[in-house]
This record gives sequence, C-alpha cells and structure tokens, in this order.
Amino acid sequence: MVLTKSLTLGLAAAALMATSDIAVSQTDLPPAVSARKAQMHLYAFNLATLGGMAQEKIAYDADAASAAAGNLAKLSSLDASAMWVPGTDAATVAGSRALPALWDNMDDVITKAVALNEAATEMNAVAADGLDALKAAMGPLGAACGACHKAYREPE
Ligand code: HEC
Repeated sequence: MVLTKSLTLGLAAAALMATSDIAVSQTDLPPAVSARKAQMHLYAFNLATLGGMAQEKIAYDADAASAAAGNLAKLSSLDASAMWVPGTDAATVAGSRALPALWDNMDDVITKAVALNEAATEMNAVAADGLDALKAAMGPLGAACGACHKAYREPE
C-alpha cells in the first residue's frame, strides 16, 4: 500500500517535471527570477533520475541514485531568500509563475522548503539501499515539490 502510494506520487512528480515551461527566454527575466528557475531546473534534473528509477524506466544504480539525492539535499539547503524578492511575482513579471500569495505566506513557504530539504535528506539516506528503499522515499519527495507548487505556482 505504502509502496503504491509512493509510486503514484512519484509519477505525479514526474508529470510535474514534464510540464516545466521554459518558453520565455531566460535572459529577459530579472536575475532573481532566472536564479530561482535555475534552482527549480536543477531540482527537476536530479528528481528525474530518481523518478526514472522509481518507475523502472532507468535501471536502478546505487551510485547514480546517491549522487542525485545528494544534489537534491544540497540544493534544497541553499539560502534562496534573495531569489524571492518582492515585486517578482507572476502578476508583475511576464515569465514568472510565482503567485503573489507566496509573498503573503512566507512562513508557510519556508515550512514547505524545509519539508523538501527533509524529504531530500531522507532520500539521500536510503538511495543506495536498493530500489524498494528509493521507491518508498520517492513519494514524500515528489509530494514536497507538489505541495509548494499547488499553493504558490500558477497553473499553466
Ligand atoms: C517552497 C516552494 C517550492 C518547492 C519546495 C519547489 N518548488 Fe518548484 N517552483 C516553485 C515556484 C513558486 C515556481 C515558479 C517560479 C517562477 O516562475 O517565478 C516553481 C517552478 C518550478 C519549475 C518551472 C521552472 C520554470 O522555468 O518555469 C520546475 C521545473 C520546478 N519548480 C520543479 C520543482 C521540483 C522538481 C521540486 C522538488 C524537488 C520543486 N520544484 C520544489 C516553488 C517551489
């Protein structure tokens, strides 16, 4: 049951990555917006490795899984505060999908960012322990991305 749930969430995470939108030229964006998008793309790149293994589309490889999970743990521990400057929401900057609500709920945003770091840390702890361990950690990890997007990212 737990495994099924993890897999479902892992698939949801993969779907979320597939819908990433890079249509707007990154060079037209304020630096803070391109920086946070770059961080999101690094998240997606590393999550794709883990998600691909969880879905058995990529052969499980303990070293590659550990590398991706370690990257996610590090990336999600960066101090990103300077990337979320006021006045760079989707209503103000063409090419951003960050909802204005994000700036009204910074405590919750930080809680969600910390939750991602915790899920990535947990993934990093077990990623080398075999495919079942990776699958079990995939659900909470994908859910941590999705929870913040649901609340603070404009749907496409
Ligand atoms: C704390 C909130 C939060 C968390 C956690 C989070 N995201 Fe995001 N993400 C956002 C917001 C807000 C945007 C929209 C940023 C913008 O357009 O200005 C975004 C945008 C994106 C984008 C689109 C980037 C672009 O070029 O438009 C991708 C891809 C993405 N996130 C992937 C991920 C992945 C994968 C994870 C988990 C490993 C994750 N995100 C975790 C808030 C979050």
